[in-house]
Amino acid sequence: MIRFEHVTKRYDDGTTAVDDLSFEVAEGELVTLVGPSGCGKTTTMMMVNRLVEPTSGRVLVDGRDISGVDPVALRRKIGYVIQQVGLFPHRTVLDNTATVPALLGWKKAAARARAAELLDLVGLDPAVYGSRYPAQLSGGQRQRVGVARALAADPPVLLMDEPFGAVDPVVRERLQNEFLALQATVRKTVLLVTHDIEEAVRMGDRMAVYGQGRIEQFDTPATVLGSPATPYVADFVGSDRGLKRLAVTPVTEADLDPAPRPAGDQGDAHVPLGTSLKDALAVLLQHDTGRLTVTGDDGRPLGVLTPAGVHRALRRASAPADPSSR
Ligand SMILES: Nc1ncnc2c1ncn2[C@@H]1O[C@H](COP(=O)(O)OP(=O)(O)O)[C@@H](O)[C@H]1O
Ligand SMILES: [Mg+2]
Repeated sequence: MIRFEHVTKRYDDGTTAVDDLSFEVAEGELVTLVGPSGCGKTTTMMMVNRLVEPTSGRVLVDGRDISGVDPVALRRKIGYVIQQVGLFPHRTVLDNTATVPALLGWKKAAARARAAELLDLVGLDPAVYGSRYPAQLSGGQRQRVGVARALAADPPVLLMDEPFGAVDPVVRERLQNEFLALQATVRKTVLLVTHDIEEAVRMGDRMAVYGQGRIEQFDTPATVLGSPATPYVADFVGSDRGLKRLAVTPVTEADLDPAPRPAGDQGDAHVPLGTSLKDALAVLLQHDTGRLTVTGDDGRPLGVLTPAGVHRALRRASAPADPSSR
């Protein structure tokens, strides 16, 4: 859906912000771009909606080289969420959200109905918040309006530049989870820029770890954490990467031992298949038995997870290029 082919960006003052970048984002995929400040993340993102033009190389969206696409037409298909949100201060929340449909020439009533629907989707009751002005919202609420506005014209692609950076950690985590739930229903193709490794791991189907102007590794969070491609990546993801990996590795049937017979399941702690190792381990630690019953879709026990199983699961997840670790 988004494809970079040997893209380099050199600004007029000689700064090489991005150097020979190639990667691809599949339709419906959420890819995080993560790295320290100044490594070229925002420049990369802005080349997707032509706010910045590459010095060399090509960017394709939906199979088309965008250098030949009218920027205004291009941006209609690309929602854009930035940290500063950029809401119009003298317009109501409803009118802010309806901005793009209005620009596209929708009838006023239709644009407002769509805006109300989107506010509802991001958890803001339009009857309560629609008539407010941006200054009358909390930072987290403003950020939600930013997301609603970006989605209003139903663009297939969403660019998000440090979208949750301006709010405190508790609100940030809530917004992240809300966005993931939303993404599970709207399935946009998303590029999300962050300098926060935890956010990149939590949000990304895949993540691009940037060094200076280059991608050092592009893979699933489980693989990046389990098998960092370079010493730089290992350093960037942190020495606690093993712990971080627990959160992005689900329990699978291969990790289970047979349930002992007779299984006294009723009182046993249990979690469903697909639970993250982190959550499974937390439950395991709360119980004395040293094992955890894992259940299938029908609620029947499939086997038990033991500390040895957790270890096996981590080894499996760090095997390079394992598509099942997505
Ligand atoms: N308009 C510009 N003119 C010159 N240099 C720029 C411009 N925008 C960004 N840069 C430089 O390009 C590099 C990458 O910047 P940026 O893409 O904003 O990084 P990030 O988003 O990862 O913090 C930095 O060295 C930055 O100073
Ligand atoms: Mg930036």
